[in-house]
Amino acid sequence: MRPPLDLLTALTELLRGTAARLSGWPDDWDPLVRPADPRFGDLQANGVLALAKQRRENPRELAGQLAEALRSSPGWADRGLQLEVSGPGFLTFRLQPEALAAWLTTCRDRESLAAGLRHLRQGRRVLVDYSSPNTAKEMHVGHIRSTVLGEALARILSLAGAEVLRDNHLGDWGTQFGLLLAGIRREGFRFHPDPAVALRELEDLYRRTNQAAENHPSQKEEARRELVLLQEGDEERYRLWEEINRISRAAYEALYERLGVHFDLTLGESFYRDQVARIYEELAACDVAEDSEGALVVFHREHPRFAEQPLLIRKSDGASNYATTDLAAVLYRTEELGVEEMVYVTDGRQQDHFEQLFLTVRKWYRATGRAQPFLHHVWFGTILGEDGKAIRTRSGESLKLKELLDEAESRARAVVEEKNPALPSDEKERIARAVGVGAVRYADLLPNRTHDYTFAWDRMLSFEGNTAPYLLYAVARLHALFRKAGRSPADFGGPVAPPETEAEATLARKMILFPHTIAQVLQDLRPHFLCTYLYELAETFSTFYNHDRVLGGPPGEEERRLALCARTLLLLETGLHALGLETLERM
Ligand code: ARG
Repeated sequence: MRPPLDLLTALTELLRGTAARLSGWPDDWDPLVRPADPRFGDLQANGVLALAKQRRENPRELAGQLAEALRSSPGWADRGLQLEVSGPGFLTFRLQPEALAAWLTTCRDRESLAAGLRHLRQGRRVLVDYSSPNTAKEMHVGHIRSTVLGEALARILSLAGAEVLRDNHLGDWGTQFGLLLAGIRREGFRFHPDPAVALRELEDLYRRTNQAAENHPSQKEEARRELVLLQEGDEERYRLWEEINRISRAAYEALYERLGVHFDLTLGESFYRDQVARIYEELAACDVAEDSEGALVVFHREHPRFAEQPLLIRKSDGASNYATTDLAAVLYRTEELGVEEMVYVTDGRQQDHFEQLFLTVRKWYRATGRAQPFLHHVWFGTILGEDGKAIRTRSGESLKLKELLDEAESRARAVVEEKNPALPSDEKERIARAVGVGAVRYADLLPNRTHDYTFAWDRMLSFEGNTAPYLLYAVARLHALFRKAGRSPADFGGPVAPPETEAEATLARKMILFPHTIAQVLQDLRPHFLCTYLYELAETFSTFYNHDRVLGGPPGEEERRLALCARTLLLLETGLHALGLETLERM
């Protein structure tokens, strides 16, 4: 029998089905299957305890009843599971060597792995709204988190069978344009042919104009007028606006290219500017929004804070804002794109905005009888410098993303140079790119996203500990092993023999938890669980490798151990790619 790859889900279903046939067990009982303490088993079900408490019965007896029913259920013997009732009433399961071998056999290649994960988000259409910088400014270090987390989540969601749309919701219709246009009129502006340079100069111009406006109310007024003219469609302003956005996008594109990020949609806030009237009408008509001193607002009176602090959706001067375009975007995505789930990746300071937005959508969609989308705000903490404050350059400016990536690559290049001076230069370059960008990315994904973390070059570029270089090196070493054996990992797609030694079995037992890790990431959209898992897998592999000689033993042994290496490589590479890292065959 071919076992399913996601053993946790399969066991949950088996336990539920078996319990449902016993008298007195509720249909909706949750067996709470979890990975077990490896000393006692592979998986364990803790759900009997809560049920026993609720029914005031002896948990060990109840667990024994279920264990009996499982053992006599059809096909039990073929599952290769050893079952015990342990502790106060847990069910502990241990996969026998044949069952481990069957799992490894099923987990043949990338396709079979994906097939075994597909049920997690089966065909669900999910839009990931991430990166989303405000145009006319360079991307800075703050954008790395949204871009890296968003890309990892998009990839993990697709691995889990979702139909993913990546949307870069640019802030391209904001008040920054009033000041910029005023500045361009005052000073004149020649667009430098290199978009990166042009963008930097625009940002400088913005800063100067902003400062001047602080001190001169008349200049502020001028900026306001420019913005109104732009919004009314004045041709000259509109052309400038288009040019500024074109340049911004071109500069961003170069960074996305380096990060391997490709959006399906880059609509931006401006795309929705003609759709806001419908939002005002609908929300007012269904009494979700109300008039307040000439503005249109949404109160959430059941909420402790939003009862006093409404969501503003139309300013008293009639202008739309960030919230209006976000509401229009939700409507467009559900109606035109058929999106069922939206994931917004921004920093933690926008928590109130999204909470209010989601409450508003819920009421509005209920009132209009539309299907409710699943909405998630995936927020993240701040990147701190070594001084414990938000990271900045020495001169106190916010650090540009481009400079950060450049520095990562040059530092990685120095490491490669030191470790492997004989490599050809273009190969060193390629390795430095993968390691440098990978290190920054991985350091960003490793901490729980809602925590702040301290940015430390030496730590993230170290070959020891839970870092990108360590994991990339583990992958490269596995490739080297296959080269040495004169074999390819693809040669091991056939049946895998049951593990025979302790170290082999321990490695296999770690591997079967890969699907559970993906499910765990998806539950709360936190990729760090996958980082921890991959590191533990690499460590388990390293123990196996130091303990059991892979090459040079009797043919059966070498074949069996190489198959374990091939599966380890498959899981490490699939996991790292899902996080957005590029892996290398040589380092
Ligand atoms: N442009 C915004 C910012 O830089 C982020 C946009 C996030 N997405 C959204 N649909 N609101 O803060």
